[in-house]
Amino acid sequence: MNSSSISLSDNWKCKSDYDNVGIKERWYIPKNYDQNDPNLLNLEIPMSFNTLSRFEVYEGIFWHFYEFEINRDNLDEYDFFKLNFEGSNYNTKVWLNGFFLGEHDGGFTPFYFNFKDHLNTSQNFIAVRTDNIRKNNRIPSISFDWFNWGGIYRDVSLEFVPRNRIKDIIIKTELESRRQALIEITFNVIGTLSIKWEILNSQQTKTLFKGNMEEISREGRISLTINNPKLWSPNNPYLYYLKISDSTADEILYESNFGVREIEIKGTSIYLNKKRIFMKGVSLHEELLPYGRTIPYEERVKDIRSMKKMGFNALRTAHYSHDESLIDIADKEGILILEEVPVYWACNFSGPKANETFKTAAKMMRNLIKRDINHPSVIWWSVGNEIPIERPWVSRFMKRLMQWTRMHDNTRIVTYVSMKLFSDLTRRYADVATINFYFGWYIASARLVSLMLDVMRTPAFNKPWIYTEFGAGAKYGFHADWEKQLKFSEERQLHVLDYSIRTFNAKKYLAGWFIWIYRDFRSFLRQNVHQQGFNRKGIVSEKNEKKLICKRFPQIMHEKRKLLNTKVLGIFLWIILYPLAYILTFLILDAGFIFGDNVRIEKMKKIEKKRLLDNSK
Ligand code: GCU
Repeated sequence: MNSSSISLSDNWKCKSDYDNVGIKERWYIPKNYDQNDPNLLNLEIPMSFNTLSRFEVYEGIFWHFYEFEINRDNLDEYDFFKLNFEGSNYNTKVWLNGFFLGEHDGGFTPFYFNFKDHLNTSQNFIAVRTDNIRKNNRIPSISFDWFNWGGIYRDVSLEFVPRNRIKDIIIKTELESRRQALIEITFNVIGTLSIKWEILNSQQTKTLFKGNMEEISREGRISLTINNPKLWSPNNPYLYYLKISDSTADEILYESNFGVREIEIKGTSIYLNKKRIFMKGVSLHEELLPYGRTIPYEERVKDIRSMKKMGFNALRTAHYSHDESLIDIADKEGILILEEVPVYWACNFSGPKANETFKTAAKMMRNLIKRDINHPSVIWWSVGNEIPIERPWVSRFMKRLMQWTRMHDNTRIVTYVSMKLFSDLTRRYADVATINFYFGWYIASARLVSLMLDVMRTPAFNKPWIYTEFGAGAKYGFHADWEKQLKFSEERQLHVLDYSIRTFNAKKYLAGWFIWIYRDFRSFLRQNVHQQGFNRKGIVSEKNEKKLICKRFPQIMHEKRKLLNTKVLGIFLWIILYPLAYILTFLILDAGFIFGDNVRIEKMKKIEKKRLLDNSK
């Protein structure tokens, strides 16, 4: 009997719980549910409740209710049942037919609740209480520069788990050379199974390799060598197809695409399939209006194809894991993926609850690796972004999280994304060094980039560097003449990106760069006359309108500026600037917005709410 599931993505009923009375009044008990309750709203799950009118900026508790029947009379043949959520933000509590199944903290990775009893073959009632309230001990915590879409915004399904099954399938591929690949497939066996496996070509029209295993229990391992393998790369995203079946019942136990590729680091270079790569990338928040985070599959395909057409070969899914469908598309279309958990800015790194924060972050990373470990497009795990890394307790937290990540997957790059020019000494513990810094936007001029790179790399000389964020805001349609290059004009954005990219292309120890960001996105923090509640550093607007810079990409993607050799000067300047930066960082706690500025967020939320109300009149 194979594992099967039914989708619960459907039209649910929902309602807010401003006064947090739902648990006390036991809204989760079927007899307390009144279909005619005037406060109930329709919501096509998966979908964030922030897409509902009047709830555009709601950060609070929201309940979701769903009634369904099971037309199966063989339920007792299954080992147990799983209620799967692909993503719900931030805290999710679930009841089935009045029984509490459990709760989950975290907004961006899948989770599930196992249960054996409480499922009726007739009427079933699910109650899900979600809240997207900002809290210091959450990840991310109070202040973050993206929109806090809340609720059940990814698919929900009910899975029937058979007694005999396989799980935790891991496909590892390693190259002896470009002409010979070693494949190792491992999995855990529950019960006792005789299996047959086969590897097919991309079109699944031809069996290339096959084998079987009689009466196995506990674990299974398939090892084979492929001569002249078709390697996966952004330019040639070849995918093989693996099928593992129960040879007795002749049922499929597991099937998936996989790619043969290898990622390595040697000195200051990154190698894909034994060839040095240079990543020309862009970041993306998981947001497209009016869908919020629940972006239709074909829109995600359009995004990836548009990025490739512009000349990008890599995508950073900022600052949290996106829906797995995006990673499937990246595998098929061919773009390298850099994934991240939202340990962002000022989380709760110290004090009595720091260990709770670490456990949440570690669970997020483990769930993310478990979900995406077999995707060839994913080449890196980042354990956080722009954290106050100079603080010893933060440095320890991040080093520990990187060790934890390597323990779960030692085949990919493990790092974190830093914003510190001179005072970050923790880069030495990451596989690659990173920097977010907006020369030409927040500070100074893009002309400083080359020298500053030679300064900041001093304490992390012997590893690849990735310029993980640079950019400039531009309101689509706002133009200024070249001389003035007014802030938020498309011309200013073009100048900053053009100059920076041609500089990065010429830096030998850089293994890549990532524009911040592909598409304008909603953020309470952005409230000036050009922003109006959006971060406008996108190279396309929130409506996918291409800004001026997009026309320039074909020219600048491969161009290199002539640079002065400032390597020695860079080291000298670092020696002078490091102590100053260190003292300054401790004297003036990182910029106010980083340290959980709740007051500012509330103020920004009020501005956003007022504007939305004015716009709706
Ligand atoms: C930071 C941060 C982003 C933010 C960006 C910006 O680097 O990583 O999340 O949106 O700067 O200032 O626009």
